[in-house]
Amino acid sequence: MNNQTSRNRPSPTLLGSVLALGVTMGLHSAAAARDDVTHSQCSPDARVCFAVTTVDGIPSYTVTRDGRQVIAPSALGFMLRGAGKWQHGVKLGEATRTSHTETWEQPWGESRLVTNDYREIRVPMVEQVRDRRTIELVARVFDDGVGFRFEFPEQAQLADVRIDEELTEFDLATDGGEIEAWWIPGGEWNRYEYLYRNTPAREVGTAHTPITFRRADGLHIAIHEAALVDYAAFWLQRVEGQRFRTRLAPSSQPWKVRRAAPFATPWRTVLIGEDAPALYAAADMFLNLNEPSRIDDLDWFTPHKYVGIWWGMHLDIWSWNDGPKHGATTENALRYIDFAAEHGFGSVLIEGWNRGWWSESGRDFRFAEAYPDFDMDRVAAYAKAKGVEIMGHHETAGNAGLYERQLEDALDYYAAHGVRSVKTGYVADAGMVLREDPDGTEQWEYHDGQFMVRHHAHVAERAAEHRIAINAHEPVKDTGLRRTWPNLVTREGARGTEYMAWGAPPNPPDHEPTLLFTRMLSGPFDLTPGIVSLEGRDGRPLPNTLARQLADYVAIYSPIQMAADLPENYARFPDALAFIEQVPVDWERTRVLAGEIGEYAVVARQRRGGEDWWIGGITDAHRREIALDLAFLPAGTRYMAEIWRDGEGGGIEGDRFAMVREKRPVRAGDRLILTMEHGGGFAMSLRPAE
Ligand code: NOJ
Ligand code: CA
Repeated sequence: MNNQTSRNRPSPTLLGSVLALGVTMGLHSAAAARDDVTHSQCSPDARVCFAVTTVDGIPSYTVTRDGRQVIAPSALGFMLRGAGKWQHGVKLGEATRTSHTETWEQPWGESRLVTNDYREIRVPMVEQVRDRRTIELVARVFDDGVGFRFEFPEQAQLADVRIDEELTEFDLATDGGEIEAWWIPGGEWNRYEYLYRNTPAREVGTAHTPITFRRADGLHIAIHEAALVDYAAFWLQRVEGQRFRTRLAPSSQPWKVRRAAPFATPWRTVLIGEDAPALYAAADMFLNLNEPSRIDDLDWFTPHKYVGIWWGMHLDIWSWNDGPKHGATTENALRYIDFAAEHGFGSVLIEGWNRGWWSESGRDFRFAEAYPDFDMDRVAAYAKAKGVEIMGHHETAGNAGLYERQLEDALDYYAAHGVRSVKTGYVADAGMVLREDPDGTEQWEYHDGQFMVRHHAHVAERAAEHRIAINAHEPVKDTGLRRTWPNLVTREGARGTEYMAWGAPPNPPDHEPTLLFTRMLSGPFDLTPGIVSLEGRDGRPLPNTLARQLADYVAIYSPIQMAADLPENYARFPDALAFIEQVPVDWERTRVLAGEIGEYAVVARQRRGGEDWWIGGITDAHRREIALDLAFLPAGTRYMAEIWRDGEGGGIEGDRFAMVREKRPVRAGDRLILTMEHGGGFAMSLRPAE
């Protein structure tokens, strides 16, 4: 039996976690132990267990795998404005348990089918002191991790809930060795656009999530959250040693979150994998912990590849604002539409066509008014005639208040011009999102505070009504909400290819092999790859090979993928363009075949609704030989492999353009030896042979 409640005498299956609770919480006396009830629940395969208890009246939880701790006893609690701390004198009530098994279909994604198997436990936690305030703890235990959240029931003594801080801890259990962490700083000015650092867990400061850890015994752990709805995102702050706790993103108000009970917090999640590929596979949990889709009809959106008036601005040969360098002219737009139509790209992103560019805090943006040299009616009619869509753009410079006031008109305007997807942008320092109170007082918010979480939900809902998909840049982190709002198709929230134009430094080759097992756990990323010229602003060289730019299309998932370079550059690299034209963006299933965080990865994905597989291999600054085992292909079937790989003498220290495009007949079970040069990679298609 996995599901038990113990009083004083733990059952043998629970012995590991309960003993550990007692020891690590430092139980002072047998008397204290006698008061404490422990409730637990284990995963369908019984290997992962979640246990909750109180120690001297303080609630705490533990996560174990195969009887060994993953999360050592960690305290729970809240700081409530005007109502003090909720943490002391707590007693656990009766536990209720359920289980759930389901397979559901995504409209598009890394895999078509998602299985959602978990065991749930619900435990009321009742204060015995003060006002006897109750918070219910709900945990869902999966074979590859745990999600838990707090539900605030309706109660007179806690109706208008103002949360100053959430005190959920994550005390990483060590296996005796050093725990490594891959993380970016939380709460710093550049939001999520930092290079990942790899440090001992003991040296993490305050981090954004997902944050990924690797223990000395090889166990991979990622901490994040799911279903971030009407609440502040949390940063993970190290308290001491390897003990962390939630720190909610601030708001302009004295409290960080304000809700009326009843409500539930987002899920706090711990993903567990035996290796990096298993961690990536575990990330379905974020989708599973979100509510099913609220959009019935999605026929209007199709995953696709796009080009756009974009890289020219980042190269500084064009400008967003009008003037002599203006990029978004009617003439340029028509040229990009021709290029898209000729090469099968689904849409053309046009940035900088509307008035107000780069006014201070975006105060002058007009989302339905074009610059004089841009004729939206003509461009939209031309695109329609060519069978190409316009991808709209709403840069706000962080002025979310202004955007909300114009949102309805802005979406009406795009819908009337046949626009089905809009890239939004919130370029402003963290803490510099602008909104107004009803009386006009200006307030400044964080990109991941409760106000912006609500803002993005509002935009998703209004956009869905207009049959428009959203690709948010400078967003709040992804927490699996695309299940509920599938029109939140992709987002930024990491250092993208713009840094290859002007970043100091540009994204190093270990960036994507790190992202795959950190940021990419949370959901799609609008990386905007495909810089075949391998050249940024003023000719600065990209630290990537040509084959690597192609491999990123398979490795880094997004249902809209940009071919980000200038059309004239694609004309110079027809072999690369051929790959970009063909590579799918929607997948039946995904297998990460191999990988280590920040070192390399080999990702295989099968086209949705097709028999062909596509593989992307990416490496850091090291040259690697990969033995690609084709055992995942259906036995007996013969395939033709087409390979785009680094050529002899390639790599970032050699000829970055050296690329071999070749065909080889293969079958299931074959092993292909492939070389990825320094900063390089390979891309491959496998089609059933005739
Ligand atoms: C930052 C975005 O990430 C980038 O893609 C965009 O071009 C600029 N902001 C301008 O909106
Ligand atoms: Ca950005």
